Amino acid sequence: MRQPRTIAVTGGKGGVGKTTVALNLAVVLAQCGHKVLLLDADTDLANVSLLVGLYPERTLADVIAGRCTMDEAILHSHFGLHIVPGASGVQECMDMSDRDSLMMLRALHELEHRYDYVIVDTAAGLQAVGLHMIASAELACLVVSPDPASLTDAFSLMKVLKRRGYRRTPSVIVNMAQGASQARSVYQRLNGACQRHLQWSLHYLGALWRDETLRQSVLDQNPVTLLPASDPSCRQFHSLAEMLNVHLAGLPRRKAGIAAYWHQAARRQAVKHAAASPAIREDDSPRQHCLALIDRLEGILDESPDDAMLRYEAFTRLFAHLGRKPDADTVEIVQTGLASMAWEKLAVDDRAKLARHLGQLAQQLAPPGVVDDAPANRFHPVKEPLYDRVSFGEQDQLVRALREKPADVSLNDLLRSLAGDDDSRS
Ligand SMILES: Nc1ncnc2c1ncn2[C@@H]1O[C@H](COP(=O)(O)OP(=O)(O)OP(=O)(O)O)[C@@H](O)[C@H]1O
Ligand SMILES: [Mg+2]
Repeated sequence: MRQPRTIAVTGGKGGVGKTTVALNLAVVLAQCGHKVLLLDADTDLANVSLLVGLYPERTLADVIAGRCTMDEAILHSHFGLHIVPGASGVQECMDMSDRDSLMMLRALHELEHRYDYVIVDTAAGLQAVGLHMIASAELACLVVSPDPASLTDAFSLMKVLKRRGYRRTPSVIVNMAQGASQARSVYQRLNGACQRHLQWSLHYLGALWRDETLRQSVLDQNPVTLLPASDPSCRQFHSLAEMLNVHLAGLPRRKAGIAAYWHQAARRQAVKHAAASPAIREDDSPRQHCLALIDRLEGILDESPDDAMLRYEAFTRLFAHLGRKPDADTVEIVQTGLASMAWEKLAVDDRAKLARHLGQLAQQLAPPGVVDDAPANRFHPVKEPLYDRVSFGEQDQLVRALREKPADVSLNDLLRSLAGDDDSRS
């Protein structure tokens, strides 16, 4: 049986170009005569298909519901590229009966083995389905842009992956770069942070330039890789595909594919569920009692993977019982927990509630006037923001500059330009 190379195209932040990269890489590989399957696992609307001007009538959800076969859900695009819309629906196998999930995953298993490459386009953020997709693929291509927020989001993704036991080396693609040196420096910033804080080195796969033709091609629903291979917009994807192949050639092939990974994940989940309600006996030690309850809590949270507030409330209440003196490990746990929350999904009221809770939590952790004896463990209260004269000069100079700047310049760009931060002006 053919064993495809499996690649998950990911990146912590929305809009960095994951779908553009996944689709154009898939088209180039298909143009080269390879059989390529693109799994659209973005949890939003089926946007890979929209980028090629196709409107899916069926998605993986229809396959799962028994309304059509896997083959009927596949969209046929340029150069024999096949697309499965709504592939994020595979996560439903976690909650299905053994028999149903086995049928669906067997169909996916048979499908993926017809291809040379299976490329997964994932959603932004840290949802469970995206993390599983990364874990299921041989290689994660981490798309980042020069926007600093894209680096912090990518770093948060790495942090969560590490915490979940992911150990492979992700390949970084710097998209929307303005030149090779900017791309390198963006990569080095991310790699440096991962090396320092996570003891994890990344791999640099390559860069794609900020390109108006590419942006327009998305609007025209016509992938840029359909242009002649000599066109600069198209050529950069050919170079990227070559670098990808060189890198893949050095990676050992995984024996199990994406469907096999999901099958194992579903079985692990079933075992967890079975153990989630262990009988708690009177004579259990406090430790056994506590661990059994934590298992039960884990089961409840797994059943509501998108309920950020449930997670947050459980977390804060539990945390209030644990250490009140945050050491480095505790702070790390708090940061990782907060980073894994889907903030953008919260309603305005929930956000306000969350902000209140965070304030209360901060009070509980370090009430005003309580000073820890050990300097290393001292919890520094957040300082009032001060006007930074060293970076921005005298205040009247700033006011003058504000008056002179065009009205449409963003505050962020303005502050950067005053601080002379040319690198980030993109
Ligand atoms: N190199 C580039 N130059 C110019 N524009 C680009 C480039 N790459 C992507 N874009 C544009 O950025 C926008 C977002 O791209 P895309 O949809 O691929 O991002 P995404 O990471 O998949 O977003 P989401 O997280 O919403 O799925 C699109 O309008 C696309 O045309
Ligand atoms: Mg996308």
